[in-house]
Amino acid sequence: MKKILTYGTFDLLHHGHIRLLERSRALGDHLTVAVSTDQFNLGKGKICAYTYEERIHILEAIRYVDQVIPETNWEQKIEDVKNHDIDIFVIGDDWEGEFDFLKKYCQVLYLPRTPDISTTQVKEKLASVNK
Ligand code: CTP
Repeated sequence: MKKILTYGTFDLLHHGHIRLLERSRALGDHLTVAVSTDQFNLGKGKICAYTYEERIHILEAIRYVDQVIPETNWEQKIEDVKNHDIDIFVIGDDWEGEFDFLKKYCQVLYLPRTPDISTTQVKEKLASVNK
């Protein structure tokens, strides 16, 4: 069984997220999604529209997602790869090169981002429409 792992916040889920999850799952047989907790996001100065519990509830309902785990810190990736027997680590190419240190433990792929959509863009669009 080929196991895939990806990381993200996945707030205000949009089709760029779905495309990332669909392409990730298609690389193997099992997709684990590590979702940033609210506490971890706060440390990055990021506040989500949806809580961690709401975001994992949504992700667990998606057919491409087999398992959801919490992302609580920057240092957990090597242990996650080892503990979950991961074959391929996947993330969008906005992170190109950032996680090459994982190549010692698994394959590392940076998938092209879907153009013209992001959670930030959705928030900005709603803010300008509702002014
Ligand atoms: N992603 C993607 N295409 C997009 C947006 C996101 O492939 N248009 C990918 C990211 O590269 C990442 C995953 O989806 O691998 C989760 O990204 P996340 O940061 O949660 O989404 P963004 O929409 O980029 O959020 P933000 O605007 O808050 O940075």
